[in-house]
Amino acid sequence: MARKGRTEPRVWTPPARELTPETSLGFEAITFAEDVLGITLFPWQKWVLIHALELNEDGNFRFRTVLLLVARQNGKSTLLLVLTLWRMFVDEAPLVLGTAQNLDISEELWQEALDVVQATPDLADEVPDSSVVKANGKKSFRTRDGQRYKVTTASRKGGRGLSGDLILLDELREHATFAAWSAVTKTTMARARAQIWGASNAGDTLSIVLRRLRALAHRDLGWPDGDDESEAIGLGATVLDDDEDDDTADDSLALFEYSAPPGCSVADRDGWTYANPSLGYSITERAIAAAMRTDPEPEFRTEVLCQWVSSTAPAPFPVDDWQATLDNDSRLDPASVTIVAIDVSWLRDHTFIARSGFRRDGTPHVEITASRPGTDWVMDWLEERRDRIDAVVVQTNGAPASSFVDKIDRAGIPRIDWSGGRLGRAHGLAYDHIVNHTVRHLQHPGLDLAAATAYTKRSGDAWIIDRRTSPHDAAPLIAFIAALWALDQELPDATPISAYEDADLVFL
Ligand SMILES: Nc1ncnc2c1ncn2[C@@H]1O[C@H](COP(=O)(O)OP(=O)(O)OP(=O)(O)O)[C@@H](O)[C@H]1O
Ligand SMILES: [Mg+2]
Repeated sequence: MARKGRTEPRVWTPPARELTPETSLGFEAITFAEDVLGITLFPWQKWVLIHALELNEDGNFRFRTVLLLVARQNGKSTLLLVLTLWRMFVDEAPLVLGTAQNLDISEELWQEALDVVQATPDLADEVPDSSVVKANGKKSFRTRDGQRYKVTTASRKGGRGLSGDLILLDELREHATFAAWSAVTKTTMARARAQIWGASNAGDTLSIVLRRLRALAHRDLGWPDGDDESEAIGLGATVLDDDEDDDTADDSLALFEYSAPPGCSVADRDGWTYANPSLGYSITERAIAAAMRTDPEPEFRTEVLCQWVSSTAPAPFPVDDWQATLDNDSRLDPASVTIVAIDVSWLRDHTFIARSGFRRDGTPHVEITASRPGTDWVMDWLEERRDRIDAVVVQTNGAPASSFVDKIDRAGIPRIDWSGGRLGRAHGLAYDHIVNHTVRHLQHPGLDLAAATAYTKRSGDAWIIDRRTSPHDAAPLIAFIAALWALDQELPDATPISAYEDADLVFL
């Protein structure tokens, strides 16, 4: 018989009392989904609504924060959408705020909600076209009764001045700092019926917000996975039995975690049913089996088994120092020298270009300035900008990017050679800059992930990044290291090769 996903999560916060239509508004939300939206929820989606919308005796929600962990493509966003429309149209919550590290994610959910409203005659009449604002970064719509759904940016300013009743953080794994979380969740402080929902599949080292919230919930449940993470995330090591002084240990945080049990094999089909509650409804075993064959294991575990893959190797750069040197407001001095470094991923499917120079205060600045699939775009990119580039750095000794060396020389673009002992020295220099906080870099998901996870290997007496074995593409980090190192090098003469060619011509 075909396997079915499990309706109940593997790790979850139990209710304080029996859940009935009197003690949970989940039942009302389910009826709304079916009768008004025409959406039949999957059993697990109903289960989550019933458990997450538990009421206290005073009629307010028991949980202020709901954390929902489910593997990819099971219907998390759909569940958030149903919840949102029920809160707006039935529960009359004045303000829904959607936010994500990446604005596209929250705008997509908002657009889907608007599409459903406009396709549902009963609701469409309630939302006049004139109330819909579609400007980028400011999207919102409003019902005739005044309930509003607004998208806000994931910045320190996100949601400031607003009082939110439902905060949606879809793809919470993408939040690499607490800035957006803190700003947007503060908007609920004065609202009695506010809830904050974070939905996601498992995260990685950079999923700082999700990791901490999940650990708080696991701690409250007595570390059901046996992996006491307190120290790693700066929590008190023991469960407090007297909760009075510890506001993190109150019972207003709920976790509903659909994930495969720790230690299960990727091929364990029973394990799949824990993380994929929609298995046998919208997801097939065949689709999961295909992903298992093609995905690298860390990706499969994170996305399909909803498991946290902690690389056992330490990060090449201390995560705290990397965060401390990250500065999205950092800018190059327009008068600064400009170096670009090119690196190509191990599989040659992606090329990254890092740009470096100095800020007005003299501090080195590095950013990933271009990142695209393949390699064939790179020479055009360089040619178009050659007037603004003082030198290009590429690794020469047979590394994936060394295929550019001849092309760059033929184009007469000044090039700095990066090979041999210079590799180890460049890595050491980058390490020192990071731990001494003497460099600034812009946020870039691929770069930041590589800086937290890449593997290293020996090279002579030094270490360098290991492109081949790193769990995530190390190329952006290698480009970063090269670009930073090159700032210390003497600039090559401009266009040496074409000068020779000219000389040859004259000679002939
Ligand atoms: N109750 C349902 N009935 C039918 N289809 C559903 C239901 N819930 C979700 N789906 C469908 O399943 C697919 C995935 O849903 P959704 O985008 O909500 O998943 P997700 O978990 O947010 O995925 P991702 O992890 O990629 O963001 C969509 O095509 C959606 O329409
Ligand atoms: Mg989604």
